[in-house]
Amino acid sequence: MPIYGTRPEAIKMAPIVAALKSSEHFECIVTVTGQHRAMLDQVNELFGIVPDHDLNIIQQRQTLNSIMTKTIDGLDQLFEAAKPDAVIVQGDTTTSTAAAIAAFYHGIPVVHVEAGLRSGNLFSPFPEEANRKITSQIASLHLAPTSTSKANLMAENVPEKDIVVTGNTVIDALLATVAKQVPFTDPQLEELASSGKRILLVTTHRRENQGDAMRGVGRALARIADAEPELIIVLPAHKNPVVREAVLPALEGKSNVIVTEPLAYGEFTRLLSLCHVVLTDSGGVQEEAPSLGKPVLVMRDNTERPEAVHAGTVTLIGTDEERIVNEVDRLLNDQAHSDSMANAVNPYGDGLAAKRTIAAIGHLLGLEDRIADFSA
Ligand code: UD1
Ligand code: UDP
Repeated sequence: MPIYGTRPEAIKMAPIVAALKSSEHFECIVTVTGQHRAMLDQVNELFGIVPDHDLNIIQQRQTLNSIMTKTIDGLDQLFEAAKPDAVIVQGDTTTSTAAAIAAFYHGIPVVHVEAGLRSGNLFSPFPEEANRKITSQIASLHLAPTSTSKANLMAENVPEKDIVVTGNTVIDALLATVAKQVPFTDPQLEELASSGKRILLVTTHRRENQGDAMRGVGRALARIADAEPELIIVLPAHKNPVVREAVLPALEGKSNVIVTEPLAYGEFTRLLSLCHVVLTDSGGVQEEAPSLGKPVLVMRDNTERPEAVHAGTVTLIGTDEERIVNEVDRLLNDQAHSDSMANAVNPYGDGLAAKRTIAAIGHLLGLEDRIADFSA
């Protein structure tokens, strides 16, 4: 039973659901919590996934405790009826940790996909660093995307025999989707795609950046838009009203800023492949953009994804307004600097992570032999 609730979990779980459904070994019961709604449904539709169960827990401006308690309560009843042999959770959202706890309390083995990421700071990202550490305490099988994440788990005394390095399933999803180069629904974006103009692609949503830091991001974008009239800034806005209230006011009336609703994954990956620079606080985008050779400026002070930083494609710049303006300016106007960051690197996967994932689950359940780990 794969259980997920938000956009990034859906994107990263989709290749696993497809692999489970095409395997003779498994019956796959897809359960969503509905922590996200529009942003989750958009991904399920794209990948043709119709959930078997939907807890539909979302509330506007929801709290972490409401996500946690509604998920545990809903799954408690569902597990009684469905009796899964194993539960699969992905990453570090509150849906994933709540589902892991609910399964653990029922004695159901927990398979943790994207295990072992660590920023080293319990409060950043909040609450994700705590969420993933809690899940690591109770999972039976830890699917680490990279050897770095495996080492993090071993440093916390997770037995090596319970860890498999699979690569990240986001690269499976990305490679399958970006190749399609789907048309944009919004005519403005289709026009932009054929204009040859340089694009700065921006996403922001992290809880610890909400408030002052995010207002500063809005001001920085407004200054960049004024200083670079030929540049087009595209900001697919997260559905969270708290994010929109902080970032969008400074951008009103700027003719070279396009604010959109969350883009369908096919459209987003096409925009990623077209853009010049990525400015983001997203986890998934930090993994995808390097694979497409795009320089990424990450608006955080730390990351649990150090691989692309070491490869030189990602720079951590924090959320200081002045620093954002200066780092974007440097990437736009210093060709040598831009070239040095625009390396296509694939430390996160080779597109075969879902295959390794279900082989590892088959091994956990005594159905097949263990297969070789992913190595970058
Ligand atoms: C959540 C995850 C975060 C992940 C992010 C991906 C937690 C604690 N946070 O954060 O780890 O990086 O998803 O985007 O698990 N909303 C809608 N419709 C949607 C989605 C969100 O209206 O489809 C609004 C609602 O008002 C909701 C708010 O956004 O209350 C916040 O959603 P929530 O899932 O709590 O937090 P995210 O910031 O999205
Ligand atoms: N994404 C998308 N449409 C958008 C913005 C992002 O499909 O408008 C995808 C992106 O390609 C990545 C994922 O959403 O795979 C990242 O989600 P998000 O930033 O919300 O969460 P995080 O990865 O930070 O947990």
